[in-house]
Amino acid sequence: MNKTIVILGTQWGDEGKGKIVDFLTKNADFVVRYQGGNNAGHTLIVNGKKIILHQIPSGVIHDDVISIIGNGTVISPVALIKEIHMLEKNNIFPKDKVYISPFASLILNYHIAMDIAREKKLNSAAIGTTGKGIGPAYEDKVSRMGIKVYDLNNLNLLKIKIKRALNYYNYQLVNFYKQKPVDYKTTFNELAESADLMLSMVKDVPEILYQAIRNKNSVIFEGAQGTLLDIDHGTYPYVTSSNSTVGGVCTGTGVGPKSLDYILGVSKVYMTRVGLGPFLTEVFDETDNYFFLKGNESGSTTGRRRRTGWLDIVLLKKAIKINSLTALCLTKLDVLDELKEIKICIDYKISNINSSIKNNNTLLFLPNTLENVIPVYETLPGWNSSTAGLTNFDSLPLLAKKYINRIQELVKIPIDIISTGPSRNETIVLRNPFKI
Ligand code: IMP
Repeated sequence: MNKTIVILGTQWGDEGKGKIVDFLTKNADFVVRYQGGNNAGHTLIVNGKKIILHQIPSGVIHDDVISIIGNGTVISPVALIKEIHMLEKNNIFPKDKVYISPFASLILNYHIAMDIAREKKLNSAAIGTTGKGIGPAYEDKVSRMGIKVYDLNNLNLLKIKIKRALNYYNYQLVNFYKQKPVDYKTTFNELAESADLMLSMVKDVPEILYQAIRNKNSVIFEGAQGTLLDIDHGTYPYVTSSNSTVGGVCTGTGVGPKSLDYILGVSKVYMTRVGLGPFLTEVFDETDNYFFLKGNESGSTTGRRRRTGWLDIVLLKKAIKINSLTALCLTKLDVLDELKEIKICIDYKISNINSSIKNNNTLLFLPNTLENVIPVYETLPGWNSSTAGLTNFDSLPLLAKKYINRIQELVKIPIDIISTGPSRNETIVLRNPFKI
């Protein structure tokens, strides 16, 4: 059955969305990115080969699928061209099957310089950004001094816009951040070099999606980052600068909410976070090392070691509500295979905390300082056998089934997909979203 499906992260990104999008894309005609930029890193294993996509939707791997980069994204022209070349080297030819919204905002070198300078000056108060210029590019969009893809159409006007932006940025970089100014020629040349290619990919995205949905094509909206990194609903200020939650689909592509049929939240069976910010269930003992090694927990964009911790059901329930999730997809089940005991945080205990953020003993919101919030854990026995690559729920060890059933009982929405390894086929499908 044809459908529009949203696939988004319920945690701080890196939930394994790329693999799930890739897996479900065999049923899709379009895959659409609605927010974020090349801060994302979607790792796919295709025919045993690792491919990391940063800006191009994961659908590009499939021949008959159109990939769309929506207006809610920020695009680095330099990184986009690199990604296109990387794909071409792997015999994937994106130019004819990737469409770009003319209203997507561009990330230029002065955004990157500002992101890095700001993080450096903030020092211990830094956010731990990916350093890709995401925040400043979104700031420019909102302040209405951003450069959009359609600006590449008029190089004379583009020159004026870049000069205006550089006046503003270089003043701050030099005088406030004590950094070198960004050179106008470098900025302009980077853009001019990518202009023709990017313009050749421009299409009227809302109209294409409207017709696609009307004509009963299948569309996947692919989230980047995750719910807890959302600029409005995440652990602010330790968040990214876009709406990674479901609302971002509508504003970031021009599709109305009534067109979304099914919303899948992707959650690891444990948690990770790159960058700074609260992480209540974080582990620091040998379990951290176990997750790091067994789960291969290094950032696919920055290479940074990810912080690790137990699954937090309180936050997962929040993600379910904010995104109106239809169902969950649990990933990396096999990473738990060798653990003797597995913990799930089922509640928070609050002590000694400012009364304005609690109601009786319930948190009104998740504060950034979690010193007085204590996770309440339920401990389940590990199954101590391999689930790696299993494709059938019945063949899972009994204790693994019990673990999954317990999560389902707690979250009260169906678990439709379980991932047991990085490859496309290492997946258990309890309900295929396209077939219900
Ligand atoms: P920014 O998006 O580069 O501004 O970074 C803001 C925060 O989001 C930092 O903590 C980053 O580590 C985090 N972040 C951004 N993109 C991703 C992602 O794709 N996966 C995981 N964390 C991310």
